[in-house]
Amino acid sequence: MQTSPKTSTAVAKTLEPGSIDVTLRINGKSHTLQIEPRVTLLDALRERIGLTGTKKGCDRGQCGACTVLVDGRRINSCLTLAVMQEGAEITTIEGLARGDELHPMQAAFIKHDGFQCGYCTPGQIVSAVGLLAEGCPTSDEGIRECMSGNLCRCGAYPGIVAAVREVHQTQTSNG
Ligand code: FES
Ligand code: FES
Repeated sequence: MQTSPKTSTAVAKTLEPGSIDVTLRINGKSHTLQIEPRVTLLDALRERIGLTGTKKGCDRGQCGACTVLVDGRRINSCLTLAVMQEGAEITTIEGLARGDELHPMQAAFIKHDGFQCGYCTPGQIVSAVGLLAEGCPTSDEGIRECMSGNLCRCGAYPGIVAAVREVHQTQTSNG
């Protein structure tokens, strides 16, 4: 019987030579994968675990579309290997909301029109949540500087800055 190309691809993926077991803790749940050590965290999230909220833009650390939190700190998931993040707490855009309740940053992006096409938006929001813990200045200029690793081709920057400023100021005034 002749094997279709589609079937061959699926088999090749399952039987990757050199695969190792990697356990990742993502949004409070553990996921054990068999992957090659060279697989990036971004590809593991999107292609192996099915968490496609984290976007692939440049795949080389220049756009921020792939931003996730690792132990609360922002990183570009295209620039780190999944195997390097074993034991860390990884948070993706899917992990921010609490059930039906949006994270305040998600709600603020909607309120202030902080997006157009939405492709950069998960990375922008995750980055903005990470920024809150970093002691970034609350001025527009400070927010722009702290968010400079997240590019938006649609130019939705005024709304993005307004959303981050509002959440930042609310958090600061609530102590
Ligand atoms: Fe990772 Fe662009 S996809 S920085
Ligand atoms: Fe389109 Fe940012 S909303 S790239």
